[in-house]
Amino acid sequence: MDYEKLVADYKELFDKMKNPFTSTVDPEVEEMETYNGVEMQAIFRPYFAKYAYENYTPKENDVLLVTYPKCGTHWTAEILAELMYSKEKMEFWKSLMVMSVLESGPTIQKYEMLNQITTPNYLLSHQPAMNVNIEKYMKNKAKIVFVYRNPKDVAVSFFHFQKKVAPPQFRCDDWNEYVKMFMEFLPRSFCRKGETYLDHFLAWYQHRDHEQVLALCFEEMKLDPEKEIRKLSNFLGLDKSDDEINRVVDATSFNAMRQRQEEDSSTQINVVRKSINLVRKGIIGDWKNHFTVAQSEAMDRLVAEKTKGMDFKFIFSA
Ligand code: A3P
Repeated sequence: MDYEKLVADYKELFDKMKNPFTSTVDPEVEEMETYNGVEMQAIFRPYFAKYAYENYTPKENDVLLVTYPKCGTHWTAEILAELMYSKEKMEFWKSLMVMSVLESGPTIQKYEMLNQITTPNYLLSHQPAMNVNIEKYMKNKAKIVFVYRNPKDVAVSFFHFQKKVAPPQFRCDDWNEYVKMFMEFLPRSFCRKGETYLDHFLAWYQHRDHEQVLALCFEEMKLDPEKEIRKLSNFLGLDKSDDEINRVVDATSFNAMRQRQEEDSSTQINVVRKSINLVRKGIIGDWKNHFTVAQSEAMDRLVAEKTKGMDFKFIFSA
């Protein structure tokens, strides 16, 4: 696959990507505020979510990585790239930047460009399950990797993240206020009005037994990365040696990713990552430094109510 030619053929599109976080978008993209009642934020656009649902068709062995924000998206994305991509494709992947997000632009021409990639490719998405054309993924023998994390650490991680990235009218600096919204409805958080992370989680989790779907748990990845990366590699049908798996474990460890975030400013995406501290603490249980006893109990009650009748438990402590 000639990636250099692809970049040359779509020069205008790739040029637009040079400033993905500041460039203006077409008015029709701007105008669409929700898709199926779901509000999004930043580079994630209802317009492109809808377009992708209706028009984008993955090919066999393509992967969609789906997460609610702060569940380990970038960590898993790096693992996928390390497992799936050749050295040449790694270079190409860096030039894709936000085009790797299913529901991001810059224009619908991006989907045409993605169709030219003949090797297995992955995209990532924060969409709730109803906004992804899962049937099309299944029919085309593509795969879905879904990563979830305990809701208390998600809330803490999102709280710190939004303080760095949210525009002033949406930013919340008060933890007590924030955690209340997180348990009721957080605006612009990939959920319909009145829904929360737990609804997003449940709608995806119910697909976990499908043979083309793999559900990974952030905490299990943290506790035994080798086992979970091997599980992912097997799911993708890749035949990796122990040495190769261990190389991926090392390359995607928290320390390695944190070091790259701090020291590597060779791509614009890395500059942005550093400024928003994407690789922040990466631990299980940071919630204990934020939740009051009452807030923790309220979240426990909400989890119990939402997962009633299920044989399921989040991992809240290492
Ligand atoms: P914290 O804010 O709790 O540290 P996302 O990519 O979905 O936005 O998720 C971000 C969370 O994943 C952050 O959590 C971040 O530190 C954590 N993370 C990123 N890379 C990681 C890694 N290699 N190992 C463990 N956690 C990682």
